[in-house]
Amino acid sequence: MFVTVLHLLFLLHSGLTAIVLQSGDQTPHPGATVTLGCSMAAGLSMSSYTMLWYRQNLNAAPLEFLTKEYEKNQGRFQSFLHTNNFSLQITELFLNDSSTYYCAATMCSGSYPPYFGEGTRLTVLEPDHDVTPPTVQVFKPSEKECKVKTLVCVASGFYPDHVSVSWEVDGLTETDSVATDNTALKEGKHYSLSSRLTVQSKTWFKPSKKFTCRVSFFNGTDTIPVEDSIIGETDSGGMPNDTKMKIMQNAKLTYSVLIAKSFIYGVFIMFLVWKLKGLSGKQSSRERSCGLNN
Ligand SMILES: *[C@@H]1O[C@H](CO)[C@@H](O)[C@H](O)[C@H]1NC(C)=O
Ligand SMILES: *[C@@H]1O[C@H](CO)[C@@H](O)[C@H](O)[C@H]1NC(C)=O
Repeated sequence: MFVTVLHLLFLLHSGLTAIVLQSGDQTPHPGATVTLGCSMAAGLSMSSYTMLWYRQNLNAAPLEFLTKEYEKNQGRFQSFLHTNNFSLQITELFLNDSSTYYCAATMCSGSYPPYFGEGTRLTVLEPDHDVTPPTVQVFKPSEKECKVKTLVCVASGFYPDHVSVSWEVDGLTETDSVATDNTALKEGKHYSLSSRLTVQSKTWFKPSKKFTCRVSFFNGTDTIPVEDSIIGETDSGGMPNDTKMKIMQNAKLTYSVLIAKSFIYGVFIMFLVWKLKGLSGKQSSRERSCGLNN
């Protein structure tokens, strides 16, 4: 049974009230057996619902139905229902069992969409890939940005890709102006992921402000925080230093050219004046000689 991604989004949205609760991520080895847990929020009883398990691979693949309560002949995917505990057991894990597993509760009447849990990430560890936490680095904004500044956080060198990114400005969590890659990029045996925080330039140009990128990495047992911070800068007149330098160099050049030009012009004027003086001098001496002749 397949449901479209759009439908899934709608269903996930309808489940935002956290009616269905799921157990945490797991990173088992191939061939192992795992059990994923699912329960109902306090005050709700599973007996009013039909319980189901789905999974969805990354990159917006269709939602895949796996099993529902009391189903017979379930193969490697078996569900168990005990009071408020609906679990999924997967045996003989394969690498391509890596997926996000969703528990869902549907009303027997069927006129309401099912309630979905938040999902449990399962990554079957690839052979020869060591579990490695990320290296995190925050890069300062480009000097070319004017009104807003974009800080970039890069988490790299980690395996598996169970990470979440959050930003803090002076210890307060930022959510609005944050954009994090949807999926981590795999290069060789490791993943990398980037996240961007956009702030007003006046926020960035406060040397006391501290911008922190925190990456939470799940290593199979614990969630390990890895972070990096940078401090805001002093405003250098809103102009990049190298641009200022260029402008100054250009100004110097223009100035020198002007000076040279006026110097040449001055010499030319002096030459003219000298020439004119010479002419009038000759003239007056001629006049004088004429006068003498008279
Ligand atoms: C739910 O059931 C599974 C399988 O029977 C069991 O391993 C797990 O401990 C149970 N969880 C809770 C919270 O009772
Ligand atoms: C996960 O992190 C915890 C705490 O740092 C550590 O004790 C544990 O050995 C780590 N597990 C793996 C699989 O690296």
